[in-house]
Amino acid sequence: MTTYRIAPSILSADFARLGEEVRNVVAAGADLLHFDVMDNHYVPNLTFGPMICAALRPHCSIPIDVHLMVEPVDEMINQFAKAGADIITFHPEASRHVHRSLSLIKDAGKQAGLVLNPATPIHVLEDVLDKLDMVLLMSVNPGFGGQSFIPHTLEKIRRTRALLDKYQVQSGRRIALEVDGGVKTSNIGEVAAAGADTFVAGSAIFNADDYARVIQEMRAELAKAA
Ligand code: DX5
Ligand code: ZN
Repeated sequence: MTTYRIAPSILSADFARLGEEVRNVVAAGADLLHFDVMDNHYVPNLTFGPMICAALRPHCSIPIDVHLMVEPVDEMINQFAKAGADIITFHPEASRHVHRSLSLIKDAGKQAGLVLNPATPIHVLEDVLDKLDMVLLMSVNPGFGGQSFIPHTLEKIRRTRALLDKYQVQSGRRIALEVDGGVKTSNIGEVAAAGADTFVAGSAIFNADDYARVIQEMRAELAKAA
């Protein structure tokens, strides 16, 4: 049976109370903390860097899932590895040498993943599967929270799931499949049914009054999809 993980994105948290927001969402039952790093270069927005990650680390008893939307990526990989990230993912378009960047993450003892934009084909995964612990499919164009889920992603999730399942049969190793953008209680079931196992949710959780209730509702939808 699939283990489903919910990864609240603190992009939609109250930045003036970030430590408290992290503690609250962990207490509400989050499985991973999704940390969206934007540089106003790879994406047209600017968020937070490794110093904020290091500051939040003691407030966070769950793994930190760092989503790098920065270009270039290698120096940030090194800094986030030191700052306490557990999973580090980046966009292949943002690295001149994708295999080398993935190796940097693995050599630092962290879990590694590639992030595919809505228009990025899944064949970029094929030659680096042995380096991957996670694939992150964007279901919106990166840069902002609160956008609508792009329906074509469902079909892409199914194709990616098939690729990862085939790899699992050959290697015995399971690669997680995460989906990011516009995920809510109303669509998380179909995202899971398409083959995702890890769900980023920013605005759906942080714009609600009761984080625990949203996470419980999401888990109830996931239980139906299983
Ligand atoms: C977008 C980010 C997402 C974003 C998701 O570039 O990668 O993680 O925070 O936000 P929602 O869940 O509001 O679409
Ligand atoms: Zn993200």
